[in-house]
Amino acid sequence: MKNAKLNVNDEIIELPTFKGSEDEVGIDITSLRSKTNHITIDPGYANTGSCLSSITFIDGEKGILRYRGYSIEELAEKATFTEVCYLLVYGELPNIKERDKFSKSLRKHANLHEDMKRFYDGFPLSAHPMAILSSMVTAMSAFTPESNSWEDDDMDHSMIKALAKVKTIAAFSYRKSQGLPFIYPRTDLNYVENFLHMMFSDSQEDYHVNPVFAEALNLLLILHADHEQNCSTSTVRMAGSSQANLFATISAGIAALWGPLHGGANQAVIEMLDTIKKDNCDYKKYVNMAKDKNSDFKLYGFGHRVYKNYDPRAKVIAKAADRVLNELKLDDPLLEIARNLESVALKDDYFKERNLYPNVDFYSGIIYKAMGIPTNMFTVMFALGRLPGWLAHWHEMVASGTSRINRPRQIYTGSKIRNFIPVEQR
Ligand code: ACO
Repeated sequence: MKNAKLNVNDEIIELPTFKGSEDEVGIDITSLRSKTNHITIDPGYANTGSCLSSITFIDGEKGILRYRGYSIEELAEKATFTEVCYLLVYGELPNIKERDKFSKSLRKHANLHEDMKRFYDGFPLSAHPMAILSSMVTAMSAFTPESNSWEDDDMDHSMIKALAKVKTIAAFSYRKSQGLPFIYPRTDLNYVENFLHMMFSDSQEDYHVNPVFAEALNLLLILHADHEQNCSTSTVRMAGSSQANLFATISAGIAALWGPLHGGANQAVIEMLDTIKKDNCDYKKYVNMAKDKNSDFKLYGFGHRVYKNYDPRAKVIAKAADRVLNELKLDDPLLEIARNLESVALKDDYFKERNLYPNVDFYSGIIYKAMGIPTNMFTVMFALGRLPGWLAHWHEMVASGTSRINRPRQIYTGSKIRNFIPVEQR
């Protein structure tokens, strides 16, 4: 590819260009400052590529999402979440032997250290499960000494332990918030079944995992498993670039995910749909509020930095929501409200002109709700799904051996140098 030419103060400099495997192009500006003394400014990083990555491909204009070359639609239909974890972290789908070994490790390491259970006692019942999740994941660093090592085997063990234990931490967060006893993982259940067992088993009687729940959860976790350089994954790369402990690094990603503009949107969507229901389903009022620049209200679950088309994950989830409610013979009015809201918004010029479509969070909460998962756990569910993506990106960065500490620059706009004035004279 030809170099790009940039004219800075009438001096032309040449910058190398990159082409990705799907023909995406980028300009390499690593020499820009040394050659010109200029930096680039890109608030929100909408035009900035922070790395080269071979994990996930998105074409936001066409609504395409692929993990390691496999389409999200095909993975959602045919794969298990455990296979997708393996695919994201190791780069290939596992064969039977690899799958069995990986599943066995995930089952073996699913228990938390008994001392970790005591940390839950310190949280009030009202604590948000995301607060508990991020604290407990950081605490994992104290129980996993190998998570401070950059040896291949140690990194591998740490990632396995993260995948195996974070679902236990998540389920215990829910049990804590309900004042229920913790239920331990079982070695005879797969990843998804184990999570449902730890969430919903009753200590007094046997719990049979509902296959409709297991299938729906498998699907949702796969659809959330990675999304290239989104806010939480970029946070993981940012924190990890300082060679911070893996669990502390993942916890930083969890914190970034919590916000309502990112993973917290799934909780915000259900709260919004509930409000609309209580307000006699006045869709126009809420669509108008979302358009009003003087209002803070947004249509949660709508819009995306990268997709300027229907989010392919939302398409799959919308169909699954229908199927799950049918199979469970549930009639949740929020599904119809979501559909009507979508239809009103998609006909509106404001949404059409800005290419705003439902995103992954718009319909997912309806399925979680049908499974009996409370609203404040929805973002924890997102974190469980996104964990293999965070690990894959962390590992790709660390294993490349070429990564530098992530440290953007700025243009300073504050005061020029001034003299200190003693407090009495101010
Ligand atoms: N409701 C109303 N207007 C919106 C919405 C929305 N949900 N989303 C974007 N817009 C508007 C913006 O105000 C902007 O309008 P303008 O051109 O008149 O200024 C225009 O559409 C372009 O949007 P940006 O703000 O440039 O979009 P950005 O890429 O910065 O933000 C985001 C993306 C955060 C997802 C945004 O669409 C949003 O806030 N959506 C609602 C929250 C949400 O659902 N988040 C989950 C995203 S998916 C995920 O993280 C898992």
